[in-house]
Amino acid sequence: MTTFSPLLTRLTNHLTISDQQIEQIAVSFTQAIEDGLTEKSSPLKMLPSYLAKPTGQETGIYLALDFGGTNVRVLLIELLGQGQSAIRVHSCQPLQDYLSPHTSAEALFNAIAAAIGRLAPPGVVCYLGHTFSFPSRQQSINHAVLLDWTKEIKTAGMKGRNVNQLLQEALIRCRFPNVIPKAILNDTTGTLLTGVFQHPSTDIGSICGTGHNTAYLEPHSPLTGQPMILNLESGNFDQLPVTYYDIILDKTSDNPGRQCLEKMVSGRYLGELLRLIATDLFPEIMARAKPGQPLATPYALTSEDITRLLSDHTPVLDNISNWLNDRLQLPNSSLKQRTALKQIAGLLIARSARLIAATYLGTLRHIDPECSSPHAIAIDGSLYEKVPGYAQTIRVALMAALGEQAEQVTVNLVKDGSGIGAAIAAAIAVKSGA
Ligand code: GLC
Repeated sequence: MTTFSPLLTRLTNHLTISDQQIEQIAVSFTQAIEDGLTEKSSPLKMLPSYLAKPTGQETGIYLALDFGGTNVRVLLIELLGQGQSAIRVHSCQPLQDYLSPHTSAEALFNAIAAAIGRLAPPGVVCYLGHTFSFPSRQQSINHAVLLDWTKEIKTAGMKGRNVNQLLQEALIRCRFPNVIPKAILNDTTGTLLTGVFQHPSTDIGSICGTGHNTAYLEPHSPLTGQPMILNLESGNFDQLPVTYYDIILDKTSDNPGRQCLEKMVSGRYLGELLRLIATDLFPEIMARAKPGQPLATPYALTSEDITRLLSDHTPVLDNISNWLNDRLQLPNSSLKQRTALKQIAGLLIARSARLIAATYLGTLRHIDPECSSPHAIAIDGSLYEKVPGYAQTIRVALMAALGEQAEQVTVNLVKDGSGIGAAIAAAIAVKSGA
């Protein structure tokens, strides 16, 4: 049997982010924000949203389209004022159902328009907010041009096009002219807007799920000099301590050289990092692996597998043994192998949460260097919500770095943040006459 202790020790060293590294990353993140704001070269895109904080008094019934990395969700949402909202009906379909290798932009939006039509109240005008969770350059609250696909999506013919217009044209083609797309926004912006409904001091919104990104309320936006939510596209931040496995993953990805942070922290990639490490850890298994065997198949493992590993608290890791048997077709694992896998899953998750905490720290220090007023960070996404210990690790890292200032900062889970945020954005757009 292979002794993998030396590799495990090396991995532990390489994947552990010290408090000192958190400080260093936060400093470079603040610098990247400031460079981005002054149009110097920066890994952060600082994309304007044309939205500021909602008042909480927004009311009415709106459709929301949430087009993220995993699912396409349509929601009918009632905003009730006083920061309250209720989801009346919703539908959800895996994004993959909408995509085939040859799907055109028009076909994609026809399918989305049909899904919206199924929930739209018939015969009445209904305004819609569209959360489109990819880097887009906005020219107004309802005009956004796709800059690049991320999260390994690659529908052709969409880059450089006005996404809101694509949706509007599809709604007309599919005979739903009563649905009027009024606002388009990133999911981080939506999460921030929804966060404000629940905690008025929210000024950072973030997604820790399939993808990773953060938006914040810039007190003096370069465009208007007024407060505006900016989408950092922080998944592209790259001043980070990468490992050999991060480099391999990047090289074999659809977008090498881009989305460095996202590839180290988000659900889309954590399973693949685990797989790459596991193939080195168990060379004898790999030597016998048949084609199609999950360990030999890129992206076969997901963050749900990591959650399964971390949730096994049985004395001899029986659940991991079952997982290896059923999911990876690897019977007869040793306790040592199971323990090593669980340890790696824990290291990857802790690294993800601590790197993200460092970027929140960098953002907070830009907004309020002395941390003299209260700030709330609103987070949505499956990693934050579901992975054991993830939320706690972010909080502990932030609190340790902030010291006495920690009492000014709260971190909150905002479920359905991006969908509800789309309704809030539509309400703001309708009110402003956009
Ligand atoms: C990717 C997208 C970004 C989105 C994030 C979370 O990083 O580029 O726009 O906010 O995923 O869904």
